[in-house]
Amino acid sequence: MKLQKLSYSLLVLLVLVSSAAIAHAQPPVTVYKLRNSHGVETQITNYGGIVISLKVPDRNGKFDDVVLGFKTAQDYMRKNDPYLGAIIGRYGNRIAKGRFTLNGVEYKLAVNNGENHLHGGIKGFDKVVWTGRQIRTKDGPAVVLTYLSKDGEEGYPGNLRVRVVYTLTNKNELKIDYSATTDKDTVLNLTHHSYFNLAGEGNGDILNHELKINADRFVPTDAGSIPTGELRKVSGTPFDFLTSTAIGARINQDEEQLKLGNGYDHTFVINGTAGRLRLAATARETSSGRVMEVWTTEPGMQLYTGNFLDGSLTGKSGKPYPRRSGFCLETQHYPDSPNQPSFPTTTLKKGATYKSTTIYRFITQ
Ligand code: GLA
Repeated sequence: MKLQKLSYSLLVLLVLVSSAAIAHAQPPVTVYKLRNSHGVETQITNYGGIVISLKVPDRNGKFDDVVLGFKTAQDYMRKNDPYLGAIIGRYGNRIAKGRFTLNGVEYKLAVNNGENHLHGGIKGFDKVVWTGRQIRTKDGPAVVLTYLSKDGEEGYPGNLRVRVVYTLTNKNELKIDYSATTDKDTVLNLTHHSYFNLAGEGNGDILNHELKINADRFVPTDAGSIPTGELRKVSGTPFDFLTSTAIGARINQDEEQLKLGNGYDHTFVINGTAGRLRLAATARETSSGRVMEVWTTEPGMQLYTGNFLDGSLTGKSGKPYPRRSGFCLETQHYPDSPNQPSFPTTTLKKGATYKSTTIYRFITQ
């Protein structure tokens, strides 16, 4: 009888311990390989939702990998990875001094960029393991990533359930659909941080890429890349990309904002109605004939020209990534919106659903 009781308690203990272990277990790190009907391929990992590779054709049908990155998912776990290809959250870009007030409560976030909060903090969405699943959709193969960011993670309020769907469509698009819900009012600004080089990763700098940005205004910042609050007209400045211009044409001009950003590291106010999918930018690389269009529902887009890359990282094909060897077009709300009442709001209310879509579309000319 005693022995029976003992073994029963042992069994109960075992069940409790193993279910606790399962509850805390992270999903295994996996790499998903997607291929569309035109042979375009991408590899995406559930670690950080990182796009590891994206192979698209040039005008002669030759495929090259147009995103900077490393060979394996594990390679990204090194500390100095500058968000290559990752999903950024909870807040893409900066929040001044890592502080904001919501419903009368001041929240203190991790400070990881000078005195400011950048890209979700010390362990942002780029460094967590998401739950992943590969599916087929009518538009092409897709990966569904979900993550529960617990109340208080990196200082943010609310249990936030996030879902990101990457679809490699049969129209040669990498489509990203974001959605999220929270059980407490919070702030949210998700984005994607691929560094593109349309001549192929590792093939020199991106200064000859021609860029057109559908934005009459941009967001000037201070020395810490925090918005001054002004939305400045681009006309007459090196931020005028309304007509297609080489990224490098004006990047070294003696201009206050370029100096503060070490080059381009600024949000553009995308023309048209936020919430509707519209063309934000077109990038062209003439030697390959590759053209990338960026479509988004977001109000803004950060152009970051890889100013902090310094050649110390070696990419997946063994080539180093020097300064300005990739550029990012990060669709998002404006930086520091929780502290800028005149900017479009980044508050996500309890019970509401966050939705955002961005498409990177590849064509040739
Ligand atoms: C963003 C920022 C940049 C830099 C990169 C990562 O684009 O705006 O200042 O931090 O991420 O290096």
